[in-house]
Amino acid sequence: MPFDHRQFRDVMGSFATGVAVATARDAAGRPAGVTVSSFTSVSLDPPLILFCLEWVAETWPAFRDGTHFAVNILAEGQAATSSRFASVRLDRWAGVEYREGLHGCPLLTDSVGWVVCRKETVHEGGDHAIIVGRVEALESDPTRAPLLHFRGAYGRFDRAG
Ligand SMILES: Cc1cc2nc3c(=O)[nH]c(=O)nc-3n(C[C@H](O)[C@H](O)[C@H](O)COP(=O)(O)O)c2cc1C
Repeated sequence: MPFDHRQFRDVMGSFATGVAVATARDAAGRPAGVTVSSFTSVSLDPPLILFCLEWVAETWPAFRDGTHFAVNILAEGQAATSSRFASVRLDRWAGVEYREGLHGCPLLTDSVGWVVCRKETVHEGGDHAIIVGRVEALESDPTRAPLLHFRGAYGRFDRAG
């Protein structure tokens, strides 16, 4: 390869994204959640979305084994929530406010919006699983602004033009 991992990360990190927390229930019924910026819409009809998750992620079994999952779109005040669901040495759910959505999928309080999906397909994408879901329920709050992520830092949306 004519470039290294650092360069790849730097270039891809130049693509500003929103930040989301993908959630599910593990086999024991406990909530599982992980921060992802790889969330995107795929298809309008049928309504499909995807996110990518490292095969080695501790939360992978919950998404592998479950039939449904949710993706929570974080608001600008939720940078700490993003860090919490990306950290390893922590009980991620301690003190986190959420409610149960369709099929028991955890929906985080104060997000910009969420989708609940039936798991449609899982594709191999190198060292990540590409998890495709068919949206069964969704909601967004037009009064909230999103949390953004750019070159390893959090920011907020500023209208241009
Ligand atoms: C802003 C942000 C975006 C991230 N996006 C992804 C992603 O799209 N896919 C992924 O596998 N990990 C992503 N991560 C890293 C995971 O959140 C992190 O590795 C987490 O510790 C994995 O948790 P787990 O091993 O408990 O599943 C992201 C982290 C941050 C802070």
